[in-house]
Amino acid sequence: MTSITDMKINQLIKEYGSPLFIASADSIKSNLEAFKLAFSNKYPKIIVAYSYKVNYLPEVLKVIHNQSAWAEVASGFEYQIARRLDVPGESIVFNGPHKTNQELRKAIDEGALINVDHFDELEQLEEIASTLGKTVDIGIRLNMEVGIDQLPDRFGFNLEYGEASQIVKRCSERGLLNIRGLHVHLTSYIVEKQSEDNIPAKGIKLIWPKDHGAYQAASEKMVLFANEIKEKYGLKIEYIDMGGGFPKVDSLSPYVDAIVDPIVDGFKEADLPTLILEPGRAIVADAADLVMTVVAVKKLPNGQRAVVADAGINLLPTSFWKFQDIECLSMSNSDLEETIVYGPLCLQTDIIAKAELPKLKAGDKLLAKNVGAYNIPQSSTFIYPQPAVLMIDGTDVKVIKKREGIKDIF
Ligand SMILES: Cc1ncc(COP(=O)(O)O)c(C=O)c1O
Repeated sequence: MTSITDMKINQLIKEYGSPLFIASADSIKSNLEAFKLAFSNKYPKIIVAYSYKVNYLPEVLKVIHNQSAWAEVASGFEYQIARRLDVPGESIVFNGPHKTNQELRKAIDEGALINVDHFDELEQLEEIASTLGKTVDIGIRLNMEVGIDQLPDRFGFNLEYGEASQIVKRCSERGLLNIRGLHVHLTSYIVEKQSEDNIPAKGIKLIWPKDHGAYQAASEKMVLFANEIKEKYGLKIEYIDMGGGFPKVDSLSPYVDAIVDPIVDGFKEADLPTLILEPGRAIVADAADLVMTVVAVKKLPNGQRAVVADAGINLLPTSFWKFQDIECLSMSNSDLEETIVYGPLCLQTDIIAKAELPKLKAGDKLLAKNVGAYNIPQSSTFIYPQPAVLMIDGTDVKVIKKREGIKDIF
């Protein structure tokens, strides 16, 4: 992530305490630029709408919107954050399974692009359109088989079982809603082994990145569907929104081809739809690290080396899916041994990494690398208050989220 030295990190810890998130504005900017370029070099009409849920600290969002990205929001709450940052409604993609009437009315008034998730939302929008006495523009989220063992997809209308076709038929017959776009977001979670007791985290594995073949399958199916509904109902699809889930920008190229080629092949040049992309992780994952301090060294009953650090799954909840990459600050890499890194919580499951680490002692500093995606918005105040988040921007260091304390509880 950052190019700051270990010495500087030690200084920052003295000043702002441990643990401490450190984000890099330069990494966000360069990731976003490279992401946009990878697609715009290959396709004439692209919109990048950053996925707010992944990290919506306002200072992070400011960096992103200064690079002229749109906002992809998944709730009315995230919508409000975007508006508060002066993102115009027309530059917001409004997704998600729970949108209130009031939120939908506002989004319609402000020209946001609304992707409908389910039938009840469709009915809600039909009622609003009737009340307004005008046709309301929408996109519809689709789900489909793309050749990976994904969890049953609860978002959107299914393509293979004809649900999506029925929705298009209904909209076309009623004339209240005008379908302008098709949306999909391929899940990053696959089922490793069917869970019998339905505990969500059981038997499910985070696959990131997914194979680009899944994107190709999705793109081909969306194009086919767009052509089918054009023929049947004369409906012109103006945008195809491929969601997020993209890998790090340096390995994006096969994904660009997988998405763009079917679109270019399947539409006449004059009818090419706008391609919307909603990256999250690809923009911010490697743009923040978490510095933490070893508080205890342990030998487990099975002889395994372990340490307890002052940050655990309370701050790095993505550890449930994937262990963190851990580095030591200012240490020689001698006497390496597999070490379990526990967090400070009174929970056996508070494990954030298993890594080859040198012999550590209390007070040593560890760095959980590339933790900028999904961790900060999902962090909790479980047992400990949340730490400060700093942002390095050129030579500037600023606090973009204050360390919490006891007063924040009261
Ligand atoms: C609709 C939608 N778009 C975009 C994203 C961002 O995905 P990623 O961070 O994997 O790029 C998500 C994440 O869950 C999502 O649900």
